[in-house]
Amino acid sequence: MSEDKAVSIPAQSEGPLVTKADAAPGDTLLKVTGLQKHFPIKKGLLQRQVGAVHAVDGIDFEVKAGETLGVVGESGCGKSTMGRLITRLLEPTGGKVEFEGKDITHLGVSGMRPLRRDVQMIFQDPYSSLNPRHTIGTIVGAPFRLQGVEPEGGIKKEVQRLLSVVGLNPEHYNRYPHEFSGGQRQRIGIARALALNPKLVVADEPVSALDVSIQAQVVNLLDDLQQELGLTYVIIAHDLSVVRHVSDRIAVMYLGKIVELADRESLYRAPMHPYTKALMSAVPIPDPRRKNAKSERILLKGDVPSPISPPSGCRFHTRCWKATEICKTTEPILVELRTGQQVACHHPENFEDQAPQDTVLLTVAKEAAELVADEVLAESAETSAAVAAEVAEASSEAAAVSDETSDSTGSTEAEAGAQESTDGQN
Ligand SMILES: Nc1ncnc2c1ncn2[C@@H]1O[C@H](COP(=O)(O)OP(=O)(O)OP(=O)(O)O)[C@@H](O)[C@H]1O
Ligand code: SF4
Ligand SMILES: [Mg+2]
Repeated sequence: MSEDKAVSIPAQSEGPLVTKADAAPGDTLLKVTGLQKHFPIKKGLLQRQVGAVHAVDGIDFEVKAGETLGVVGESGCGKSTMGRLITRLLEPTGGKVEFEGKDITHLGVSGMRPLRRDVQMIFQDPYSSLNPRHTIGTIVGAPFRLQGVEPEGGIKKEVQRLLSVVGLNPEHYNRYPHEFSGGQRQRIGIARALALNPKLVVADEPVSALDVSIQAQVVNLLDDLQQELGLTYVIIAHDLSVVRHVSDRIAVMYLGKIVELADRESLYRAPMHPYTKALMSAVPIPDPRRKNAKSERILLKGDVPSPISPPSGCRFHTRCWKATEICKTTEPILVELRTGQQVACHHPENFEDQAPQDTVLLTVAKEAAELVADEVLAESAETSAAVAAEVAEASSEAAAVSDETSDSTGSTEAEAGAQESTDGQN
């Protein structure tokens, strides 16, 4: 872009860092409705479509200004695809993405240009996401050049300021990525993401490629930057250990769906979806209050099914120790069963007396031939009954859902909505 088109933004080198969000804290910044991404599978000389990978298959959520939404789930469940959809690096197959109330679902390159400043992404792999032939100065300064933005004091000065903000030596401006460690490279990626003072930062597994000792530093840096800059985050991770300290709310994904979406406290205190409970079992969570409690392991059976032909009904039923006939036939809808806790399950857990205490890894759990001990099964059945009673009492809406889920032949509203969205695209 030519210099005369350059936009001037104030440097932030003096005084407190500017809070970017125009939206007041708590306002909805991002709203996602029935979002889908189906990657076509083509075969033969004519490249005929023979199927589709249902990477993201109808998800709904909101992100409020100033909050951090954590997104967790096993490999292949669609987390990165979701991140790329909401940053519009991918075109959705169906559904809607709204940013600050504006529908951005199908914006073209020019329509997206102003939004590129407001929404930034930090990528999973700090080794492959930085061009090895470019200096750090060029990499962190690229967003200014791409957007035609001229910071006060010049790009170099601003890049050096950004490097010091993320804890790097500004004098290293002329060095190349290979001269930095993994943690330092991720700091460079963060500096690049912050260059244009974004409103929303989507961080796709920002620390999973780093040593555990470095992970905490980078997570803390993200946290500090949020306080200082008023950022809003969507942080993607494959387990709960990374997101639990920094997230206000957490969405748990399984095979392209959100199965539980809750505020952090509720999720950790009493996860209601069996899959969330299994993920919890996989994470070592030190809790001194529970140190004498009996250890409980939730071992998932089998591999994650293929997103090309996901299981019918509840997608988790092929691995769930609580699955009944209705789980195979009727997809559970994501509904708010408790304040701030949405769950998609026919037999939700209560969990109050089953806080996680062990350190069983999910990979180990997946290989296990047996699921859970009989006493856990019995306990689960008891807590399910308790929740069912509580829910029925607490809300007539939940009672209506319960009625609906007992109809094993009808398709759900979510399915119908998703189908409509897809049809609209085809
Ligand atoms: N461009 C693509 N074309 C076809 N299939 C794709 C494409 N990108 C992703 N997929 C498939 O979509 C599904 C979801 O992938 P995605 O990368 O979003 O998962 P993920 O949850 O981020 O996994 P991971 O934890 O391994 O990063 C996977 O089955 C993947 O193989
Ligand atoms: S709906 Fe059924 S199969 Fe799915 S998580 Fe709940 S109990 Fe398990
Ligand atoms: Mg990913």
